[in-house]
Amino acid sequence: MAAIGKDIDQAAAILQMGGLVAIPTETVYGLAANAFDSEAVVKIFATKNRPAFDPLITHVANSDQLAPLVSYMPAVARQLMQAYWPGPLTLVLPKTHLMNDLVTSGLPTAAFRQPRHPLLQQLLSIVDFPLVAPSANPFGYVSPTTPQHVEAQLGDKIDYILDGGPCQIGVESTIVGFEGEQPVVLRLGGLPVEDIEKVAGKVMVKPHSTSRPQAPGMLESHYAPQSCRVIVGELPPLIKKYKHDRIGILSFSRKYADYPNFVLSERGDLNEAASRLFSALRWFDRQQLAYLLAEPVPDTGLGRAINDRLRRAAT
Ligand code: TXA
Ligand code: MG
Repeated sequence: MAAIGKDIDQAAAILQMGGLVAIPTETVYGLAANAFDSEAVVKIFATKNRPAFDPLITHVANSDQLAPLVSYMPAVARQLMQAYWPGPLTLVLPKTHLMNDLVTSGLPTAAFRQPRHPLLQQLLSIVDFPLVAPSANPFGYVSPTTPQHVEAQLGDKIDYILDGGPCQIGVESTIVGFEGEQPVVLRLGGLPVEDIEKVAGKVMVKPHSTSRPQAPGMLESHYAPQSCRVIVGELPPLIKKYKHDRIGILSFSRKYADYPNFVLSERGDLNEAASRLFSALRWFDRQQLAYLLAEPVPDTGLGRAINDRLRRAAT
């Protein structure tokens, strides 16, 4: 089993030697390697069982580290960085030859973010390379938001889990790409679209199932518990329909005492709901259910990312 601890010098030493370390971020835990070490990058894909056509996000310490990796920066990308970095915003930008093709699955662009978690910022400041890090879960499963989630699934495959406590935001970063100068949201996530629009004006939202749309639709079904089917909709009619099966109820703020029930936020707070969502999906996976009935949350702020993850869990 991987050691869990707060020792950033040990984490740095493992990364320098080409090993893998699970790292805390403000969104979800990542599985990190030296972005410039091809063998270590290959190990990430193997450890997660991730297809090579699904590119990785590169985590940078600051914009100085970013500059040589990017060949063109739209003005609005710079404004978004100034407003929201460090934070849960990933920018997809044209890359230079310094970016490894294994990281980007051969695409001409690469995805970058400067994370906000203090322990990870310290780690990035002592290693002299950026860190590639996908979410630290087997491919297709729910992202981890605690060190224990990582240990349960990848503990026997990685060297060290850096313990930064539970993730504050709880859903992955918002990914923004550019069509010319025009920003496009490619994945709903921890930075609300409303915040992006404050800086960039109205943006298009085109959530992609994969950066290679011709790949066999595999990435649509994601974030899914393995032991039950997820059905999203209004709860009272769903409960009526499925009440003779073993059902669990994922509700936003109301309690459903007659069934295994996880309430995302009793006070109806979307930020709290986001931070608890993936723990809830993991909890239901242990309840031996036939169906998990989940209601959509209000579709604003982080609610949009929550609804996106529920929809994908149900695919
Ligand atoms: O919050 C997060 O973003 C977390 C933490 C660890 O930083 N990371 C994360 O990584 O969610 P991952 O690998 O689970 O998701 C990254 C997504 C991929 O689905 C990929 O399609 C997209 O980023 N991506 C990466 N490079 C891209 C590119 N050049 N163009 C379009 N999409 C890209
Ligand atoms: Mg992931």
